[in-house]
Amino acid sequence: MAGKLIVISNRIPSEAAPSGGLVFALHETLRKTGGIWIGSHPDIADKPSETLSEYGEQGEYSRFSFTLSQSDYEEFYLGFSNSVLWPVCHRRGDLVELNRGFEEGYARVNARLARQVVKVAGPDDMIWVHDYHFFPLASELRKLGYTGKIGFFLHIPFPALGDMGALPRAANLPHWLADYDLVGLQTRADVARCLEMFRAESDAEFMMDGTVKCGSRTVAVRSFPIGIDVETFVKAAQERTEQDKLADDMAGDLVIGVDRLDYSKGLPNRFRAFGRYLETRDERERRVSMVQIAPPSREEVAAYRELRYELEELVGRVNGEHGEIDWTPLRYIHRNLDRGLLARLYRRARVGIVTPFADGMNLVAKEYIAAQDPENPGVLVLSHMAGAAEDLTDALLVNPYDIEDMSEALKTALAMPLDERKRRYASCMKKVRETDVSNWSRKYVQALKSCPATLPVRS
Ligand code: G6P
Repeated sequence: MAGKLIVISNRIPSEAAPSGGLVFALHETLRKTGGIWIGSHPDIADKPSETLSEYGEQGEYSRFSFTLSQSDYEEFYLGFSNSVLWPVCHRRGDLVELNRGFEEGYARVNARLARQVVKVAGPDDMIWVHDYHFFPLASELRKLGYTGKIGFFLHIPFPALGDMGALPRAANLPHWLADYDLVGLQTRADVARCLEMFRAESDAEFMMDGTVKCGSRTVAVRSFPIGIDVETFVKAAQERTEQDKLADDMAGDLVIGVDRLDYSKGLPNRFRAFGRYLETRDERERRVSMVQIAPPSREEVAAYRELRYELEELVGRVNGEHGEIDWTPLRYIHRNLDRGLLARLYRRARVGIVTPFADGMNLVAKEYIAAQDPENPGVLVLSHMAGAAEDLTDALLVNPYDIEDMSEALKTALAMPLDERKRRYASCMKKVRETDVSNWSRKYVQALKSCPATLPVRS
């Protein structure tokens, strides 16, 4: 008899009707197949429990949460996950903060989670682990004798071998990954970096079928580019509500950016590029405004706080230099916006701008495309360093370090004739549809199912 699917991610959907790409896809998959979703409880516990607890109302599948103590939160989440692994994967070794407590907290939470998971997982089940918070989870599960299939999906960039040098010795990425049956990554470039890492391992062998043998374990490494829930997004973008007067009232043309406030997103350079564009624009042309939505993220980590100050200063400078009594060129919103309103704003914006230095995929790029009116589409300006650039080759690709390049791209996008806009949109939209998130999860689960059965434990 086929077993159940167990999904593990640090965040767990808390709302009754989940929305949003990843959450929606996993929700749909679990609804069809049944199964369990395990994630961390948003509230801190005095003493973390050794067992999982039911989370929220249980529907077609079960939701369970594990709890984190204050020190788990600081060491596992803020510490090792977001002050070590995140910067290493996003090529910011200079921001890594090493601290033995972080390593211990990361190991402790993963080991505890494995003990909790084996209580609910049978050998016929499939466990699908998501993201960098849980690299060692398969190793911990194998130590406990778990022989069922375990898959991993990394939502962020796979680090380059050189950047891994900033990781502490205890972080043994090749061995952690070899304990999975399938390692899913976003792009072909990620797969290449992962295989480069295995190539540097003396005990890794490359098999004819494309898998990697490491000790007694065999792991498949493949790319599964994630996408959005296209139809839901297309519909949301077309709806009209009272709120839309707000978007209609915006004078002139609109450039939109939407990113968590994160140093990987390239926001300061984007603002500088917009400032440069304003400097060089012909004053007789129509006014162009940029709206940047940047919801707060991980504010307890110093690098995120510093970025916020830098951005606030830059916004002030751009508006001070280029604003008019009746015009604020750069509007910056440090809050979350309703997803429906966001979709409609995307549709109204002549340009969507996405300029990260490094990004696993970047779903904003795909959302912006999906939201466009096919008869009068806007233009996507996209960093060639975002995973999405592998799919969306007909966006206007830019170098996020090159202010002049981005400012020129803004100019080109704003002046682009309708037939070229339509051609680029059609090509990007085809890719957005091909990578629809329900295909993504179906393909991954299928690939994990067809991995050969697992051998007991790595020697
Ligand atoms: C990225 C990661 C996710 C994470 C999200 C938000 O997309 O891949 O795992 O959940 O950022 O970050 P947060 O730290 O708030 O969960």
